[in-house]
Amino acid sequence: MRRSLNHQAACIEDLRMLAKRRIPKFAYEYLTNGCNSNQAVSANRQALDALYLHPRYLTSCETPEISCNLMGQQYAAPFGVAPVGLSGLIWPRASEYQARAAHQANIPFILSSLASISIEQAAENAKDNLWFQLYPPTVDEICEDLLRRTWEAGCRHLVVTIDVPSPGYRPADIRNGLSVPPKISARNLWQSMCCPAWSLNTLRNGVPQFATMEPYLPSDANLADVAHYIRNTLKKVVDLPTLKAIRKMWQGKLIVKGILTADDAKRAIGAGADGLIISNHGGRQLDAAIPSLHALAKIRSSIGSDTSLMVDGGVETGVDLARYLANGANAVFAGRAFMYGMGGLGEAGATHTIEIFQRELQQVMEQLRCPAIADLPRFLK
Ligand SMILES: Cc1cc2nc3c(=O)[nH]c(=O)nc-3n(C[C@H](O)[C@H](O)[C@H](O)COP(=O)(O)O)c2cc1C
Repeated sequence: MRRSLNHQAACIEDLRMLAKRRIPKFAYEYLTNGCNSNQAVSANRQALDALYLHPRYLTSCETPEISCNLMGQQYAAPFGVAPVGLSGLIWPRASEYQARAAHQANIPFILSSLASISIEQAAENAKDNLWFQLYPPTVDEICEDLLRRTWEAGCRHLVVTIDVPSPGYRPADIRNGLSVPPKISARNLWQSMCCPAWSLNTLRNGVPQFATMEPYLPSDANLADVAHYIRNTLKKVVDLPTLKAIRKMWQGKLIVKGILTADDAKRAIGAGADGLIISNHGGRQLDAAIPSLHALAKIRSSIGSDTSLMVDGGVETGVDLARYLANGANAVFAGRAFMYGMGGLGEAGATHTIEIFQRELQQVMEQLRCPAIADLPRFLK
């Protein structure tokens, strides 16, 4: 079985090409596109491509160790699954499969507030590998209830996303009717019919929902009600007082996602963050955003080594993982790559994507003669 999976997809690019064939065009474009002219997506890629690593062939090195300790918890590898909203649109039950695979591989899995499975379902599958990503709601009682549910589900890592003060401007989604509420056009139906495995699975599992948010919606909510809720009840702007208020309410690890400047990094740490995710949201929010790699290097040199710094954006290979780790990240997340695994191979893609990253990272480190993750920064020069 494994052997045939490797034949179908030996790398993330293979998974992307498979996904492109197997999921409808509107879903593929929702996943791959950034905002405006896709400049920030390209900038993430270009920044990674421009970073060279320097092997030390004449040094002896044991088999590299890729396990890591992140904020007190031991993980098998320094990478994890980034939160992706509307995950069921890419592949039905994608988040459930990913959560289970992440637990089996012992890597972090971040569930989006807007994923298609609930915190409780994610916790059943990811267990103590679950991190929950919060778009803080405007209604305090809903925010408190979400934090209570997160804690009671056994999740101890809360990721607060701060980089969505306004919805990203994504022309492809507008053209495809993926606005809120979604428009079911003849074109979308035709694209779905051209992808029978996706359509059959979607029919079997139902239209993707915002499962975590369902309890707060009116019981007979239609699409327009959901749209109204998303627009008005999810807080658009996370300012410092909001972050401090969440810190007071949450006794687990607090991680702030969407940091791109040293100033914001210091503010978040001052507000009590245990970890930061340097991210430009995969280029989906600000087309002129600094690439995550450049932001990471600046922030690491400005805040020192006390705070856990994580990063995401444009990761397609184990080489990319090594590049981010060499620039001072303690761990790296990927969004699209894991979703290509789902779109390309369905359930089997969850574990397969993790295995590709593990294998590739291990190989890069062997090639560099780098014994451990913490040693990677030495290979920048
Ligand atoms: C389709 C899609 C949906 C996303 N949804 C969310 C979300 O609900 N919450 C969030 O914090 N980030 C979200 N992100 C951003 C990712 O968590 C992550 O920052 C980004 O995907 C990293 O870039 P990469 O996809 O190139 O790896 C989303 C990204 C994509 C591609």
